[in-house]
Amino acid sequence: VASVSSIGRSEIPPHQLHVPTVPDVCVIVPTRNESANVAPLVDRLSSGLAHLTAQVVFVDDSADDTPEQIRQIVATATMPVRLIRRGPGERAGGLGSAVAAGLAAAVEAGATWAVVMDGDLQHPPEVVADLVRAGVAADAELVVASRYLDGGSTVGLADAARVAVSAGATRLTRLAFPRRMSACTDPMSGFFAVRLASLDLDRLQPRGFKVLLEIIARSPRMRIAEVPFTFGSRTSGQSKATWREGVLFARRLMSLRVAGCLGRYGGKVAALSGFAAVGATGIAVNTIALWAVVTIVGAPLLLAAVTATQLSTAWNFVLTDTLVFRGPKSRPFWLRLGGFALINNAVLLLRLPLLSWLSFHAGLHYLTANAVTLLAAFAVRYLISDLFLFAT
Ligand code: GDD
Ligand code: MN
Repeated sequence: VASVSSIGRSEIPPHQLHVPTVPDVCVIVPTRNESANVAPLVDRLSSGLAHLTAQVVFVDDSADDTPEQIRQIVATATMPVRLIRRGPGERAGGLGSAVAAGLAAAVEAGATWAVVMDGDLQHPPEVVADLVRAGVAADAELVVASRYLDGGSTVGLADAARVAVSAGATRLTRLAFPRRMSACTDPMSGFFAVRLASLDLDRLQPRGFKVLLEIIARSPRMRIAEVPFTFGSRTSGQSKATWREGVLFARRLMSLRVAGCLGRYGGKVAALSGFAAVGATGIAVNTIALWAVVTIVGAPLLLAAVTATQLSTAWNFVLTDTLVFRGPKSRPFWLRLGGFALINNAVLLLRLPLLSWLSFHAGLHYLTANAVTLLAAFAVRYLISDLFLFAT
């Protein structure tokens, strides 16, 4: 208190007179050359959020006097306002990286909700409280402010071309992710609220561009709500949307789509092809061993098949255990080896009658017949190994 009186009350923004409280809502506003817009924005935010513990974080990449404007607001506003002024290196990351930096700051501040919005007043500040209210009411983790919901509108889009591009990109995105976008009519929106506890920032970080799209594409189980809003017109400054961003968007959408598929099936495809490759070498080993035991030792076919299978089983196990199902395993070595040998010998019991029938009755060469029985056994062995023995 002593320091307060020595500095003089009038120099300290009102909210700094209190012990800083953890904000419920952190409003993240990326800005590039929004000099005339930031002051009215914070004015309208502070009246709309008066009933909440809220703060505003500007993430600024401007070349004009926007940062000076913001510093003035920081000193005078009735709510806490912060400025993150980015260096030239960070600036290169553009809008997506600015939003990501703001989200990281919101997490650090301990906020419950982050609301991301534009700083040019095209996103009405009054809607911010609606987003959070809707999120709490619906127990949602993400609330999207949508221009395409009943009651929303795109009137503020500059011209017919922008309307068409926006509608096209929206349709494309919803086509690429039909299930995930079923709850989101406006995946291109730059206006949304997200519960920070539900957000995995590390997964967003590297190439985030359309941050909302990244969040939805990468968190398939997120509970989404929507609130309609009217996208206003820009009254000051210029849009930074470019054709280059359009192309980047299309590429990003495609790679997110591919990543989504690989995430689900990639591991299985790799394991199956590895298993098939090992299986192929195992068939070769089994065939050579069978031939050797039959011709060199002169053993009868079925006895030779039993011997050859022990050899190829050992061979397959070593390769499968080290190459196909790599990494830590939940079952001990001897159980894996024992189980593997048991399965191969159980399968052998089924293979022997088939082998004998194919070679003695169907007239196949015994090596061909043996290979056929091995191929038939392949699918069975893969399923059992995948589901039980090598489970990670
Ligand atoms: N920090 C930072 N860095 N901010 C940026 C940058 C940047 O490189 N580029 C743009 N911004 C800020 C702007 O200052 C503004 O506050 C906000 O991001 C949106 O930029 P605009 O240039 O106004 O975008 P827009 O109006 O054309 O596009 C809006 O609508 C699209 C949907 O039609 C944005 O909300 C988009 O996110 C949205 O997809
Ligand atoms: Mn805009």
